[in-house]
Amino acid sequence: MTEQLIDPFGRHITYVRLSVTDRCDFRCVYCMDEEMTFLPRQQVLSLEEIHQVARALTEMGVTKIRLTGGEPLVRKEVLSLFERMGSLPGLNDFCVTTNGSQLVRYAQALRAAGVNRINISLDTLHAPLFKELTRTGRLEQVLEGIEAARTAGFERIKLNAVILKGRNDHEVIELVDFARERGLDISFIEEMPLGQISEHDREATYCSSDDVRAMIQQVYPLMPSSLTTGGPSRYWKMADSGTRIGFISPHSHNFCGECNRIRITVEGKLLLCLGNENAVDLKAVMRRYPGDLERLKHTIREAITHKPEKHHFTTDGSVQIVRFMNTTGG
Ligand code: GTP
Ligand code: 5AD
Ligand code: SF4
Repeated sequence: MTEQLIDPFGRHITYVRLSVTDRCDFRCVYCMDEEMTFLPRQQVLSLEEIHQVARALTEMGVTKIRLTGGEPLVRKEVLSLFERMGSLPGLNDFCVTTNGSQLVRYAQALRAAGVNRINISLDTLHAPLFKELTRTGRLEQVLEGIEAARTAGFERIKLNAVILKGRNDHEVIELVDFARERGLDISFIEEMPLGQISEHDREATYCSSDDVRAMIQQVYPLMPSSLTTGGPSRYWKMADSGTRIGFISPHSHNFCGECNRIRITVEGKLLLCLGNENAVDLKAVMRRYPGDLERLKHTIREAITHKPEKHHFTTDGSVQIVRFMNTTGG
């Protein structure tokens, strides 16, 4: 029988978010500072090390792995990692979260490697605002990437929109319509306070999921759904469309009770919760004992016994995590 990873609160850990790079071709205002320094190569897990962690985890009952970043698709040779991971036994749900900028080039190959679901960030459909929010991104490139993903035939494509009051909150319905017209799902995300970011007032731009849902309800009736993708989104259905509307609400609806996930940061730290600093250094173990899968598994098993019960994010900036989202595995 496959081993199960169970934490002290009885939660089964089946979902791992793995950050493959802290680098990104965008500089989204809620994620990064305009001037970011990225980690030196030596500090970052090699593709081989990432594969080894993924293998250990799937042998311990993890069935869902999502590769994230930064922007995972800007890492050199990353496709070879996708190809190797796609054949890991026990990996039933192989997902990627991307900003969409490289999808024209990669969508087909990701699908062929075995990626079944893909989540693409899209906060606005207006090119000038897209430029403001991403600082370096180009909307057209992402829209073409979304089309490439649709053509590649993933089981599901989900859009992610972080809604900021006074910036893109007037676009909620437009984003819903965009998703509906293309048969995509869409999740609306409350911003989380990770990393100190200049020129971005988190308190002023906080927009709760309830407010976003109320905006949608004025146009489209939503019905609660028990559906889960094994992630933090709570989904609502629409009467006249297969599009599912998700809400990721770390502030207004704490979902820690059902947490089934851990993260591996780009530096190989096993992070037990997005909102806590507890972490275990897997890179140190792998570099000290190269190829010793049993030792790696033992370290992971031991780490899970320290998973905290919940995060302590606030919207007033009083609890702040110093890590940036891009190193953490957004
Ligand atoms: P699926 O449910 O598998 O489609 O994906 P997901 O919604 O879990 O993943 P995605 O990469 O699309 O992430 C969407 C948002 O949810 C991001 O902002 C993540 O950082 C956030 N998120 C995912 N897991 C957690 C978590 O455990 N805690 C918090 N606070 N946020 C999370
Ligand atoms: N709060 C909430 N979501 C964030 N993302 C990046 N930074 C933050 C943050 N501080 C989102 C991205 C992407 C997903 C992986 O995480 O928009 O959709
Ligand atoms: Fe890049 Fe995603 Fe962060 Fe934007 S949110 S800067 S696309 S890692």
